[in-house]
Amino acid sequence: MSEIKSIGVLTSGGDAPGMNAAIRAVVRSGLYYGLRVMGIRKGFDGLINGDIEEMTARSVGDIIQRGGTILQTARSPQFKTEEGLNKAMAMAKVFGIDSLVVIGGDGSYRGARDISRLGMNVVGIPGTIDNDIGCTEYTIGYDTALNTVQDAIDKIRDTAYSHERCSVLEVMGRHAGYIAVNVSISGGAEAVILPEKPYDLDKDVLKPIIEGRNRGKRNYTVIVAEGVEGKAIEIAKEITEKTGIEARATILGHIQRGGSPTVQDRVMASMMGLKAVEVLKSGGRNRIIAVNNNEVTDLDLEEALKTKKDLPEELITLSKIMSL
Ligand code: F6P
Repeated sequence: MSEIKSIGVLTSGGDAPGMNAAIRAVVRSGLYYGLRVMGIRKGFDGLINGDIEEMTARSVGDIIQRGGTILQTARSPQFKTEEGLNKAMAMAKVFGIDSLVVIGGDGSYRGARDISRLGMNVVGIPGTIDNDIGCTEYTIGYDTALNTVQDAIDKIRDTAYSHERCSVLEVMGRHAGYIAVNVSISGGAEAVILPEKPYDLDKDVLKPIIEGRNRGKRNYTVIVAEGVEGKAIEIAKEITEKTGIEARATILGHIQRGGSPTVQDRVMASMMGLKAVEVLKSGGRNRIIAVNNNEVTDLDLEEALKTKKDLPEELITLSKIMSL
């Protein structure tokens, strides 16, 4: 197996706070191990188009505290085609890139797998606020997003209490309910609606609100994951009509993706960036960095893509019990 000499690093899919810390870690670890590191802008599109620049220790200075990604990101339809993949391989050759660190979610890993099949050495780093990657318990940006949502819940609760209202908050997560179930616990919600569980509005939402009122509650919070059928606005309308309690919907949207990363996201991103470079340096090919049981490990890319993880049942139960 030939030694690697030059790493290309890119961010792909939705940006997540902490991606900059991961880029910084890849660049500085690469330089530490005597490798060239090339920054690829706008995800796989940048690889196809040659939007590539050599990175130095200074190009990643002053970024660890910044949300978003300095390399920018994209979801590249072109990269899903054979022609796009061949162009990307040809461009990697032009820039002397023999290995790639891809920071992103599982859509990005599929791109990484496809280019690995053409001979590129690839390592993936999980970066998404959704925490929906099967092979790892932790993804970069998730912790920051949870804290951003929590801050919003606390603020909305102040006004909900003052008006004795019900707040219905729609949170991100695509098809997964990780953000939703966790903030329902940390934010003291009366109900949470998750894509993983069918729900009955009367039993799962209206009943706990009315029972809560009868026990003396003065405001109510309902968390709706964006992946469920029936969105926050309709649910708020139904709550108002059926309980007489004024309900207002807030869709938190992209605020959840921005902001300065938490300490946890910065440290995890730094650890994963270093691990990615060490895996490549020591001959690892087509791997994914994962964190399980607090340990940073690397797994086979193809195998990792097949792994599924379920939302822990105990979190759903905990949320229900705590809402009494
Ligand atoms: O994957 C991150 C995420 O923010 C999801 O939670 C959400 O469904 C999606 O991206 C939104 O994507 P976009 O910013 O392209 O609308």
